[in-house]
Amino acid sequence: MRIRQCREEDLELLDQHMPARGAASHHEVRYARQREGMATFLVAWRDGHPVGSCEVRWEGCAAPEVRAAHPGCPEVNGLGVWPETLRSQGIGTALIREAERLAAERACRVIGLGVEKNNPRASGLYRRLGYHASVPYLDCWSYEDGAGVVHRVADACLFMIKPL
Ligand SMILES: CC(C)(COP(=O)(O)OP(=O)(O)OC[C@H]1O[C@@H](n2cnc3c(N)ncnc32)[C@H](O)[C@@H]1OP(=O)(O)O)[C@@H](O)C(=O)NCCC(=O)NCCS
Repeated sequence: MRIRQCREEDLELLDQHMPARGAASHHEVRYARQREGMATFLVAWRDGHPVGSCEVRWEGCAAPEVRAAHPGCPEVNGLGVWPETLRSQGIGTALIREAERLAAERACRVIGLGVEKNNPRASGLYRRLGYHASVPYLDCWSYEDGAGVVHRVADACLFMIKPL
């Protein structure tokens, strides 16, 4: 398994192999943020297929309550491993470790991530990796479906942080 930054030519394979909440252009949006220097979009590859990804948002979490508590703290966003049969094999951990390495390289002293309150397996993994609970917040986001309908979502989340 290999982890590297997303390239433009990866986008088609990502859309084919990795489901995204919302429109297929979701990966393109993450890639656009990377191109603008706001994020690093990491993709894990196995046997020529993308098997996981996450975005390190250098400008931090979008939620104002998290930004106020942790100014300048980068956020690991949208971590996911596909297909489900490849989960619990260390791919998610490797993506988080790479995000932490990049953050340390930029002299960040802390890194964080948001987890939905109803995702105890993921928060268990983050605790094992050294993250601790910090700020409860509402993750408000929207997406446009294939029919052009905009869906607004508000997820109850917990921001967890780890000193680097
Ligand atoms: C959470 C997730 C990214 C972890 O990646 P992974 O490659 O399975 O993680 P690792 O193999 O490094 O670590 C395994 C741990 O992740 C957690 N995990 C495994 N499968 C999971 C699942 N379907 N949903 C949530 N957490 C899961 C468990 O704590 C697991 O520990 P276990 O093997 O003792 O059960 C992955 O399971 C996933 O894509 N889940 C669905 C999307 C999601 O919940 N993303 C997190 C958003 S905050």
